[in-house]
Amino acid sequence: MSFNGALAVCQSGFEGLLAREMGGLGLQGASSGPGWVLAGPAPEPVPGSALEGLRRAAFPHAVLESPAPVAGESVNALAQGVLDLFAGGLRGERIESPWPCVFAGSQDAAGLGRRAASVEAAFLGLLKRKLGRVAKLATPEKPRVGPARGLFVWFTDFGRAQVARTAHMNGPCRMADDEEAPSRSYLKVEESYAIIGAEPRPGESVCDLGAAPGGWSYSAAKRGASVVAVDNGPMKGGALGHPLIDHRRADAFRFSPGRSASYDWLFCDMLEDPRRVLQAIVRPWLEGAWCRRFVVNLKFGRVDPIALLAELRSPESPFATRADGVRIVHLYHDREEFTVTGTVR
Ligand SMILES: C[S@@+](CC[C@H](N)C(=O)[O-])C[C@H]1O[C@@H](n2cnc3c(N)ncnc32)[C@H](O)[C@@H]1O
Repeated sequence: MSFNGALAVCQSGFEGLLAREMGGLGLQGASSGPGWVLAGPAPEPVPGSALEGLRRAAFPHAVLESPAPVAGESVNALAQGVLDLFAGGLRGERIESPWPCVFAGSQDAAGLGRRAASVEAAFLGLLKRKLGRVAKLATPEKPRVGPARGLFVWFTDFGRAQVARTAHMNGPCRMADDEEAPSRSYLKVEESYAIIGAEPRPGESVCDLGAAPGGWSYSAAKRGASVVAVDNGPMKGGALGHPLIDHRRADAFRFSPGRSASYDWLFCDMLEDPRRVLQAIVRPWLEGAWCRRFVVNLKFGRVDPIALLAELRSPESPFATRADGVRIVHLYHDREEFTVTGTVR
């Protein structure tokens, strides 16, 4: 299988880890910048599974496949370059339904977002004149998870961008805050629902380990689920005194649901060594089938994240032996942590 290059987009500051993860898949980063790593078309053979691996890797938020470079000094030159690539790549393809038209660049690089917006406006103007019907179907909405066909333009600097027709969205996405939510951690669990493809429903049960101050518990309770929230720390904000949240001041390592009890969801977001959480929480919960679905956040600030990823993915890991549909993702709202989601087998 030929490999025509890929641009992986990640959270700014994590390019080094993304490049290492790509290296493990046999993809060498040809260049990188804040929030992106580009693996060019390979001179030497790339494993056939590399692109599929990248679509399921932890650090990429999105993967632009077979990207082509465009360069220009001015907004108009860049817009014309993008148009030439887009129109040239249609090759008789008929576009009959709305298609994602996404122009972006690292938020960290000064003015790149504005540059992307200006080029997008100029591009849409040119497209309207050349292919009015296709232009009308352009939408800035990109699919949240999975493959997408449209136009994806990522600015690597002021005068250069990578342009792709196909992208894979790995799931991370900025979420809207809720003023009742007691912590910013709330955003992580909200972000994880689209990745697991489900969210807590009215009447479901949730066990939230390391729950305080209650962002994840609040997220489940506001959807009508009943939560057992385990943490010695206090609940705050919308989680404090919530009728659907039963706060138990206890050590989560000693907490088990008791005979025959089982929860619809295990939430776990404990400030603890990730290997200890894996062995002392994840393993018994998954082996005992004490939950149906799980969202587990593992902190990698004090360990090598790439080595941890290898352990989480190893055939002996409880995620491998006891769960399906497992995704290990560095979320938009994650810091030095992964969020693991899946369904117990
Ligand atoms: C990052 S905070 C959790 C934030 C929470 N998910 C939220 O949305 O507000 C980590 C929590 O883990 C708790 N924790 C650490 N070790 C614990 C243990 N052994 N048992 C219970 N909670 C623990 C801490 O008390 C702390 O409240």
